[in-house]
Amino acid sequence: MTIKLPKNQKIVFEAASPTEEKTFEQLSEETKLKLEHISGASFALEAQGLISITTLSDSKSSLTDEGSHYLQHSLPELRLYQAVRLMGELETAFNLSQAIDQSSLNKNEVSVALSNYARKDYGTINQGKIISSRDFDPKSDPEQVALTAIDQGTELDQSIVTRLESRGLINTNQLTTRSVILTKKGISERKKGVKISESVTNLTPQMLSQGNWEGIEYTTYNVEAEAAPYIGGRVHILRDTAERVKDTLVSMGFQEMEGPHADSEFWINDCLFMPQDHPARTHWDQFALSVPPAQNLPPEIVEKVQSSHLDGIGTYGDGYHSPWSEDVALGIDLRGHTTSLSMRYLSGQAIGHLEPPQRFFSVEKVYRNDTLDPTHLLEFFQIEGWVMAENLSVRDLMGTFTEFYRRFGITNLKFKPHYNPYTEPSFELFGEHPRTGELIEIGNSGLFRDEVLRPLGVNCDVMAWGLALERLLMLMYGFEDIRDVHGTLCDLNLLRSTEVPY
Ligand code: PHE
Repeated sequence: MTIKLPKNQKIVFEAASPTEEKTFEQLSEETKLKLEHISGASFALEAQGLISITTLSDSKSSLTDEGSHYLQHSLPELRLYQAVRLMGELETAFNLSQAIDQSSLNKNEVSVALSNYARKDYGTINQGKIISSRDFDPKSDPEQVALTAIDQGTELDQSIVTRLESRGLINTNQLTTRSVILTKKGISERKKGVKISESVTNLTPQMLSQGNWEGIEYTTYNVEAEAAPYIGGRVHILRDTAERVKDTLVSMGFQEMEGPHADSEFWINDCLFMPQDHPARTHWDQFALSVPPAQNLPPEIVEKVQSSHLDGIGTYGDGYHSPWSEDVALGIDLRGHTTSLSMRYLSGQAIGHLEPPQRFFSVEKVYRNDTLDPTHLLEFFQIEGWVMAENLSVRDLMGTFTEFYRRFGITNLKFKPHYNPYTEPSFELFGEHPRTGELIEIGNSGLFRDEVLRPLGVNCDVMAWGLALERLLMLMYGFEDIRDVHGTLCDLNLLRSTEVPY
């Protein structure tokens, strides 16, 4: 019996050779079918045992413009080294700017030279002086040698390839070539001839209304067939994960809070029993805005917050006795945490008086005047949350975190006692980085003090937290630098290829 194949499969089957491997590209050229059709048909034929597919992966590196330039003129750090060597003996300190002049490096090359000179142990650069402490032939420098090798297409060690890539001197492309050849079964089937099967790929409304859908033969989909990568716009993983966090908290019975990004210090700090001379309130930490002060603060709450600061709450509370001024409380800052929203909701000012039990959350931007580094940006997303109920304990808090993070596959949380002016007890949360194994701080939490709750009119317990969304992402996806997902240095590959599973 002759076999029946859908049209594209028939074409590829007939173009495949019994003796010679043909690449997908060759087949595409011969048959005028698009590459993705060749690929789809080939995988389907392979699944039927008619052809076999061989996959070869190869990577090819080529010099960037900068790399080619250094191939000709030699690496900047080597030119600096040579200039220093010409100035005199090893282990002698020479004037750095003089050495730079002699090396005739341009401005860009100078910074490249300086950052690689010490890394490669050529010597030291310190306080305007440069020393060379190694005697070697600049032509033998491994990175210089590698540039030549790459130019000539010679294979190299992966470590040096990675180094040159990170210096932007080479680009590496991954090449996958697939080729097909007929199998024994394919050869004998082809001898018997091939017919086009009448199978259809799409079910149409007509087939349904005419009722002939039952007798039709359908093409099977091969969902494992390789397809060309599709690079289109997509939701950023941070935004996607934020949505997942919101859904998770809603499923745990929480409601979402909303509120201003720029808010009065009253809601951001004073309600939180942060003394007005607290270091976190100096404008090094918080961004103050030069806009008119807040109006409409609720006078009864302002008065109680002030007395909580000055004299404390309850028999043992003593307050701070430090100066408290309403003018400070009225100043507008970008919020350094979303705990300002929790204060607005707990006080009844956001959506009216709340009776326990209650659960609220937000996943929103906060702004801090931090120093940029791999784990800090000037803004991040905070996962704020609180539970209001009678008789809460630290156990309730730990249990809530354990359950929340478990839903993201994170099960090895660590808790560490901590201090916040507004919670007692307080603790920080840590999680283990999946790649480095390092413990990284992922949040801060505690039970609000009476000094916070009573002025707001809350008479039961409230446990609360602020977690960093970006740190949750680090634990989930294993990247190490927050700048991989934010800003101009972001890792496009990571953003394109990371799935946010639900
Ligand atoms: N505001 C704290 C922070 O930004 C988080 C927190 C909120 C801690 C509520 C305890 C209670 O780090």
